[in-house]
Amino acid sequence: MKYFFPILLCCIIFLSGCFAKQNEETPSAKDTVIGYCQLGDESSWRTQNTKSVLTAIENQQGLQVMYQEAKQKQENQIKALRSFIAYQVDIIVFSPIVETGWDTVLQEAQNADIPVIILDRKISTDDDTLFTCFIGSDFTLQGERAGKYVLQKFKRHNDTVSIVELSGTVNSSPAIGRHEGFVNVISSDSKFVITENISGDFMLSRGKEIIRKRLEAHGAEGMDILYSHNDEMTLGAIEEMLNYGISPGEDVVIISVDAQQTMIDNLQNGIINCSIECNPNSGKLLIYSIYNIINEQPIEKYQYLYEQVFTDLNDVSVISSREY
Ligand code: AHR
Repeated sequence: MKYFFPILLCCIIFLSGCFAKQNEETPSAKDTVIGYCQLGDESSWRTQNTKSVLTAIENQQGLQVMYQEAKQKQENQIKALRSFIAYQVDIIVFSPIVETGWDTVLQEAQNADIPVIILDRKISTDDDTLFTCFIGSDFTLQGERAGKYVLQKFKRHNDTVSIVELSGTVNSSPAIGRHEGFVNVISSDSKFVITENISGDFMLSRGKEIIRKRLEAHGAEGMDILYSHNDEMTLGAIEEMLNYGISPGEDVVIISVDAQQTMIDNLQNGIINCSIECNPNSGKLLIYSIYNIINEQPIEKYQYLYEQVFTDLNDVSVISSREY
């Protein structure tokens, strides 16, 4: 009995030391602040992506978020990242508007020991230790899927097939990947020619303006296919085609990336021909990675979301409804 209290005291001191150490080295979710910078709000896809991320973080007890929206400007994103570093957030999450120009600020985050998760769009860097992981889509695969549809759809055509490509933001990873993947596939047959490739910045107003000018100049002549890098630009293009008495989906074969509900409806109504899914719901996967970082567990460097292709060559009546 005379040893009982000294031993108990030692145990308490030892255990409290362990807990204190654990608190020092491994932040629990309770103290974790996430600095999240979204690139803008240019499309319904983007709105859904932001919602998915913010809802997922806010639903986790103890996780806190500092949110900034960069209004389509890289300099605003860099400023936001620097403010997160100054605030000493625990983890930075951001969707880079363009691929290049991130090394300096990411080096600053690394020097401050803040892990960075890149969401949706990729960056181009020689030093991939500057970020912990990437969560998003395989844009080259999306482009290849669009290309495979074209090969299939025009397999009985012998004449030249002219393609107008409505591209996303210049130097953004979806615009680069969707173009490269597409060209890799269609270049197997020389009858396919991309006659125009114009950037509409992923915005409805720009898609509308580009197609209006194009129709004013040449009508639908020389536009067998419209390959549009996102649904928002496609919606603008469709509006202008209808204004010009051109039947989208019939006079011009339309391929659109994103697969939001309006575009699935358009596919089912024969207004477009192929919808390539780009999944905006990255919130759950993000939470999984945040917990792995907090608990110092191994993390998959590149995490891709599940995505599908819907086309008029298949039964489109069975497509389930989208979340946005
Ligand atoms: O980065 C993903 C792309 O950006 C989506 O396809 C598009 O709709 C968004 O604006």
